[in-house]
Amino acid sequence: MSGEPVIKTEDLSVEFQVGNGSVKALHDINVSIYDGEVLCLLGESGSGKSVFGNSILRLHPDNALVKGKIFFNGQEITALSDKEFLPLRGAQLAWVPQSAASSLNPLKSIGKQVDEVYRLHVENDKKKARENTIDLFRLLGLPRLPELADDYPHELSGGMKQRVLVAMGTSAFPKFIVVDEPTKGLDAVRKREVIKRIGHMQKTHKSTMLLITHDVAVAESLANDIGVMYAGEIVEYGSKDEVLNSPKHPYTRGLINALPQNGFHAIKGFSPSASDMPTGCKFNPRCPECTQECIDGHPKLIISESEKHVARCYHA
Ligand SMILES: Nc1ncnc2c1ncn2[C@@H]1O[C@H](COP(=O)(O)OP(=O)(O)O)[C@@H](O)[C@H]1O
Ligand SMILES: [Mg+2]
Repeated sequence: MSGEPVIKTEDLSVEFQVGNGSVKALHDINVSIYDGEVLCLLGESGSGKSVFGNSILRLHPDNALVKGKIFFNGQEITALSDKEFLPLRGAQLAWVPQSAASSLNPLKSIGKQVDEVYRLHVENDKKKARENTIDLFRLLGLPRLPELADDYPHELSGGMKQRVLVAMGTSAFPKFIVVDEPTKGLDAVRKREVIKRIGHMQKTHKSTMLLITHDVAVAESLANDIGVMYAGEIVEYGSKDEVLNSPKHPYTRGLINALPQNGFHAIKGFSPSASDMPTGCKFNPRCPECTQECIDGHPKLIISESEKHVARCYHA
């Protein structure tokens, strides 16, 4: 890709202070997301995907220590004070949170909740805000419009609530949006529907997106590039086709072999916890291709213009 990335991170790391010690949840993430593109972070639960997305939006709790740099349209946003940063959030950098159930206000109609984002960040005009909300609801395939906007969250299904959250995240036309696990907890039919609608919305608005998911099918449907995450690191990076059709890292191959259509061959063992990391390659205790080199050394991952499909593996 050419041009300035919309989002770029340099050696982004996050540590959490817990008790007298600390756990490192994210290690030296270096990625660029270009205008109108979707980068998908794919990996099992606990691999650091949400921690990465939350770092861009400064949504961490107080016990988090963020190191490294984040650039938005070339400006280093990690150098901004909270006062300087906060106006960007919601208006230019937006977020569709992981949990639809707990992220909507049960006491307000869904239309009102989406209107408020527009009125706060774009223009405090009630009528225009509602028009924008209805347009978005229509784009996201919500039924019974415009009356549905007066419904309360408890009147909607899980899939509809997910779509309301997508509408909330995008109603101020942000330049960049983090969409965290948009299909978690949905059945297969609703999942397909939400994926289709997000894809349509992303293309219509030409949004630049960080998509976070544990689900290979979601990555396959929506991503341009994929970063596979394991134990707080990116272990493989490349275009969607490169990563899914010719995976280089044994962990990525494991994720693909675990798919139902490939026979459900689960990866043996469990992800390590942040407080008890193996030495060397973090995947080595679970890796069918592990050699002494993988225990002694920690393979690097360098993503460059000339070599974009890369893996953190000595055998790749
Ligand atoms: N506030 C916190 N305090 C301590 N550890 C945390 C905190 N938030 C996340 N973590 C740890 O960071 C790691 C990555 O978490 P997360 O990014 O939520 O995973 P994912 O989104 O990939 O499922 C996990 O090991 C988790 O326990
Ligand atoms: Mg998460």
